[in-house]
Amino acid sequence: MKNIIITGGAGFIGSHVIRLFVTKYPGYKIINLDALTYAGNLENLIDIDHSSNYIFEKVNILDVEELERVFAEHEVTDVVHLAAESHVDRSIESPLDFVYTNVVGTVNLLNAAKKHWKGKFDNNLFYHVSTDEVYGALGSEGFFTETTPYHPNSPYSASKASSDHFVRAYGETYDLPFVISNCSNNYGPYHFPEKLIPLFINNIITKKPLPVYGDGLYTRDWLYVKDHAIAIDTVFHKGTVGDTYNIGGFNEWKNIDLVILLCKQMDEKLGNENGTSEALITYIKDRPGHDRRYAIDATKINKELGWSPSVTFEQGLSETIDWYLSNQEWLTNVTSGAYQQYYTKMYEEGQK
Ligand code: NAD
Ligand code: TYD
Repeated sequence: MKNIIITGGAGFIGSHVIRLFVTKYPGYKIINLDALTYAGNLENLIDIDHSSNYIFEKVNILDVEELERVFAEHEVTDVVHLAAESHVDRSIESPLDFVYTNVVGTVNLLNAAKKHWKGKFDNNLFYHVSTDEVYGALGSEGFFTETTPYHPNSPYSASKASSDHFVRAYGETYDLPFVISNCSNNYGPYHFPEKLIPLFINNIITKKPLPVYGDGLYTRDWLYVKDHAIAIDTVFHKGTVGDTYNIGGFNEWKNIDLVILLCKQMDEKLGNENGTSEALITYIKDRPGHDRRYAIDATKINKELGWSPSVTFEQGLSETIDWYLSNQEWLTNVTSGAYQQYYTKMYEEGQK
């Protein structure tokens, strides 16, 4: 019997992890601990929120007393920690928010786990979900491996790198059993439309410009979010305590090539004349400190734990677009209110 806190379960990746764990492990109690920031949305879980092994706790990881209450009340045995401020552009505007949630919040959770598990750690695990951005930027060659030195370049990646170090330090100092995974860029359903792929899908639907930063030749390694959730399940159950696993798709795309593929697929699905969406591409001012290239070497998780991605990028992207086209109410709901102010500030005022 496991009672697992999954933090950030109302967010993009967290909602897929919750869905997978709740449906695959009816014997586990799954506690979704989430503060419901702008990025958290309980609509993401509407299909499983009635399940008898699922509980939602609206708690901020900065609230130590509430964390301790949840650990005690639910006799928590394990943590899968995804809650974070996750958008690089927002970290450039408000770095301290990232220090509070990503660093202080993670240390609060570590303390709550350590206190509640009373140093015995018989059957406990603290699983910290992190990003490949901690490794910094690559040139045109090479890959990030688990031994690549950390070299974070944005306030977001610096805060994630710091949280990774704290998790590892709690392992060394207090024997807290932990595992960390560092994953490449995810895409898929329920992705908040401030990140590249859902933002561009939304802008194509609403016929707005597609704002490509700089020369558009920045490279990311893209992984379908459901494959990330499966990788998290695999590492949680089969990973070696104290180890790190890199998770990625061996699927590199230059931003502009990805955007052109997205435009083609969108035109086909919307019945537009070929080239309609591409005409919306607009090059805009670059992101400061923009990392040129990320690429993950996922050999370790593949060889040791047998995980590999299950869909090609073309399939995953097509399924993602289909999901957004059939869930336009979700898109309308998350893009009303505060999103409009964010969009104006980021893409309209800044460009004048
Ligand atoms: P997201 O922004 O979609 O969701 C974050 C969730 O955390 C939201 O539900 C939000 O309400 C919650 N949250 C934020 N601050 C909180 C706080 N103080 N207390 C409690 N809950 C809080 O993020 P995501 O894209 O799903 O990313 C999840 C995790 O995976 C993050 O740790 C991120 O660093 C990591 N990651 C993301 C990607 C990616 O491509 N999105 C890739 C690799 C790793
Ligand atoms: P993003 O989805 O923000 O993820 P990350 O910065 O964590 O990699 O951005 C992916 C890439 O797309 C990145 O190189 C920045 C670029 N990008 C744009 O060109 N325009 C945009 O409007 C956004 C949001 C991102």
